[in-house]
Amino acid sequence: MREERLVTANELPEEDILEHSLRPLRLSEYIGQQRVRENMEIFIRAALARGECLDHVLLSGPPGLGKTTLATIVANEMGAGIRKTSGPAIERPGDLAAILTNLEPGEVLFIDEIHRLNRSVEEIMYPAMEDRVIDLVIGKGPAARTLQIDLPHFTLIGATTRPGLLSSPLRDRFGISLRLDFYNQAELQNIIRRAASIMEIILESGGAEQIASCSRGTPRVANRLLKRVRDYASVRAEGKIDAATAAAALKVLDIDALGLDTVDRMILDTIIVKFNGGPVGLETLAAAVSEEADTLTDVYEPFLLKLGMIQKTPRGRVATEWAYKHMGKPLNRPLPEAELFAGEDI
Ligand code: ADE
Repeated sequence: MREERLVTANELPEEDILEHSLRPLRLSEYIGQQRVRENMEIFIRAALARGECLDHVLLSGPPGLGKTTLATIVANEMGAGIRKTSGPAIERPGDLAAILTNLEPGEVLFIDEIHRLNRSVEEIMYPAMEDRVIDLVIGKGPAARTLQIDLPHFTLIGATTRPGLLSSPLRDRFGISLRLDFYNQAELQNIIRRAASIMEIILESGGAEQIASCSRGTPRVANRLLKRVRDYASVRAEGKIDAATAAAALKVLDIDALGLDTVDRMILDTIIVKFNGGPVGLETLAAAVSEEADTLTDVYEPFLLKLGMIQKTPRGRVATEWAYKHMGKPLNRPLPEAELFAGEDI
C-alpha cells in the first residue's frame, strides 16, 4: 500500500502527535457534520440528565473524517475516560474479556475498524453490550463450564469505514448509529483556519480556499496539506500562505485542482486507457494499479465516487464523462450504461 501519498485519508505514523494537538476536545469546537453533532448533543445531554451512560454508538464513514476525534469528544462531554483499541488488535476472546473487565464504571471503549473483529471475539461482545455480562468458557470438553462475569456500565463506540461488513447481531446492538460524510468547502476552510491559528501560521483566506479545495472533503488531508504548504511558504514566501503561494505549493506537490494525486489519476487513467472506460472488476483494477482491493474500496474509491469520476455497475467500475474531461482524454465512444449498484463489490 502506497501510504506515503500526501492525500491519503489514513493516518500516517508520524502524524499522531501533531494531529492530536489539532483535534477539537469539545463538541462546540467541532466543525461540520451538523446533523451528527446535533444528534450527539441531544443524546449526551439526555444521558447526563438521567445520570446514565450513553447508549452504544456506531460511527461510520470514510477514513479521516473525525470518527476517533468524535469518540474522544463524546467521552469528554460525558466526563468519562476513554480506552482506545481496534478490531484487528483484539485477537482472542480473552483479550476482549480483559479489556472489558478492566473498564472503570462509565468509561467509553472505542474500537476502531470494528468490522474487523473476528467472530469469536464478536460473540463475547453481544452479551457485554446488551446485558453487561461476559460468558467465559473455562476448560475443555465435558469438564468445560461457563462463568458469567458482571461488567461495569460502559459505552462502546465502534468506528467503521465499512458498515456493510458488520454482522447484523452486532449492528443491532448499537442504540445510536451515525454516519459521517465528506466536509464541504466552507467547513474545510474553517478547519484549516483553526489549525493555522493553533500552529501560528500566517494564512490568507485565498490560501485557505486553495488548500480546502484540494482536501478531498477530509480534515486529515486538509491539515496535512496545510503543513506541507507551510513548508513551501517558509522557504519561498517568507512564511505567508496566500492564494498564489498555496497554488504554487500544491502544484509542486502534484495535487490537482480537485485534490487528486498521482495514484487517483493513475486509477482513472487505467480505467480509461487500459480498460477502455470499463466496466472493470475490482480485483482486476486493483491488480492493474498494484493496490489491494480493500485499499481501493476504502481509501481511493469513496472520493472518486463522490466526485462522480467513477461509477459502480453490476459488471464493475466505469469512468464517467467527467473523468474523461478531467484527464483530458477524448471520449470517442458511448460510455457504458452506468447503473448504480449497491450490492457486493465486483
Ligand atoms: N480537525 C479535524 N477535524 C476537525 C473538525 N471536524 N472540527 C475541527 N477541527 C478539526
